Amino acid sequence: MDAESIIAQLLTPEGRSDPYPLYARAHELGPVMPAGDGMVLVCGYEACKQALRHPGLGADINMVTWGASLDEHPSLAMLSRSLLVANPPHHGRLRSSMSQVFTARRVTALEPQIVRITDALLDTLAESGSSPVEFMDAFAFSLPAHVICELIGVPAEDRHRFRGYAGDLMATLELLADPSGLEAADRAAVEVDHYFTALVEARRGDPRDDLVSALVGVQEQEAQLDDEELVANLTLLLLAGFETTTNLLGNGLQQLFEHPDVMAGLRAGTIPMQGFVDEVLRYDSPVQLSNRIALADGVSIGGLPVPAGNHVVLLLGAANRDPSRYDGPGRFDPRRQDIQPLSFGGGAHYCLGAMLARLEASTAFGRLLSRFPALGPAPGDGPARRDRLTLRGHETLPVVLA
Ligand code: HEM
Repeated sequence: MDAESIIAQLLTPEGRSDPYPLYARAHELGPVMPAGDGMVLVCGYEACKQALRHPGLGADINMVTWGASLDEHPSLAMLSRSLLVANPPHHGRLRSSMSQVFTARRVTALEPQIVRITDALLDTLAESGSSPVEFMDAFAFSLPAHVICELIGVPAEDRHRFRGYAGDLMATLELLADPSGLEAADRAAVEVDHYFTALVEARRGDPRDDLVSALVGVQEQEAQLDDEELVANLTLLLLAGFETTTNLLGNGLQQLFEHPDVMAGLRAGTIPMQGFVDEVLRYDSPVQLSNRIALADGVSIGGLPVPAGNHVVLLLGAANRDPSRYDGPGRFDPRRQDIQPLSFGGGAHYCLGAMLARLEASTAFGRLLSRFPALGPAPGDGPARRDRLTLRGHETLPVVLA
C-alpha cells in the first residue's frame, strides 16, 4: 500500500468509519510521503508538528473552496474572510484582534456559566428517569452551542437557531466537500451574516460584557478589522467551536463506556480529569486532519522537499498515534505521561478555543459522572458514527442514566 491508496481508502465509508488501521499502515511507510499530484502526506508526530510551525507552509484556501466560485457560495466567501484560511501578514492582523478579546481571562470568567448551562442540560436529561436518552442530541450538541452563544453574546431567546446554522456551515470544513452540496451552508451563511451584522450594530451603540462588544471596541481603537471580517470571524467561532467540542464529548463518553475502570478512577479522583480529556483528544481526535500549501520553494518536511504550490495533508489523528512518540499508541490510557496531542493543531493557527474546549469537556464529564452513578450505554442499538473524516464523532450515542 502506498500514500495514494491510503488517501483513497481514507475517503471510503470504511476508512471514514475507522481510519486507525490505515494510519498504522501509513506509519509503516514513514512520517512523510509524496502522495502524487503535487500532494504530500504527513503522519509522523514530529513531522506534523514541524509542518504546523513551518513559516513556509500556509493555510490552503483551495482545500476548502475546491475551485468553486466565492460569488456563488456565501458560505465559502464567509470562510475565506476568516483567520482559519488567512496567511501572513493578513493572518497576524486578524489573529491579533481575535486573541486580544478571546483571552484566558475571558474563558476562566465563563466557567460559572458553563457549569450553569451543563447543569440545566443535565436536569433535562434526568427527566428521562430510567429510559434511554440520546446523549449526542440531548447534551453533546447543545452544550457547546449554548456556550459559544453565551461567549459571543447571542441573547438566550435567539440561541435555538444557532445549532442548526453551525451544523449546516460545518459542511464547508469537510475534506472534499462537494460545492454543489452547499445549499444549506449557503443559506445559513446568509442568515448568520444578517444576524451578526445586526448584533454588531446593536452592541456598537450599547456595549455589554460580551465578545461582540469587545471586538467592536478593538475595531474602533485599532481599525484592524473591517465589518465583513468581524462578522466572518464571529461565524468562524461558531463553526470551529461547535461540532469539534461535541465530538470531544461523544468520543470521550464512548471511551468511558469501554473502560469502566477509567470511569471509576475519575469518580474516585485517582485519575485526573485533565489527563482523561487529553487522552481522549489523543486517542480519538475530534479533528482528524488539516491542510497546508507550500508558499515558496525551499520547504522540506521530515527531510522531504515540498516544492512551492504543493499541498500538504496533515493527519493529526495519525500523528497522535505515532508509535515512535507514544508506547502502545492504540491503547487508551489516561495515566500515560506527557500526553501532548496535536488535535488543536500548532503554530500560527493553533486553536484559539483550546482552553475553552478543555474547560467545557472537564466540566461536562465531571458533573455527568458525579450526578449519574448508573450512567452506562443503553441496551439495544449501539452508537453510530457520523460519516465524516475530518471531524470525527458520533451521530447517536444512546445512554441510560438511572
Ligand atoms: C475539541 C474541540 C476543538 C478542537 C479539536 C479544535 C481543533 C482545531 C484545530 C486542529 C485548529 C487548527 C486548524 C489548522 O491549523 O488548520 C483549530 C483552529 C481554530 N479553532 Fe479550534 N478546536 C476545538 C474547539 C474550538 C473552540 C471551542 C473554539 C472557539 C469557540 C475554536 C476556535 C478556533 C479558531 C478561531 C481557530 C482558527 C485559529 C487560526 O486560524 O488562527 N476551536 N481548532
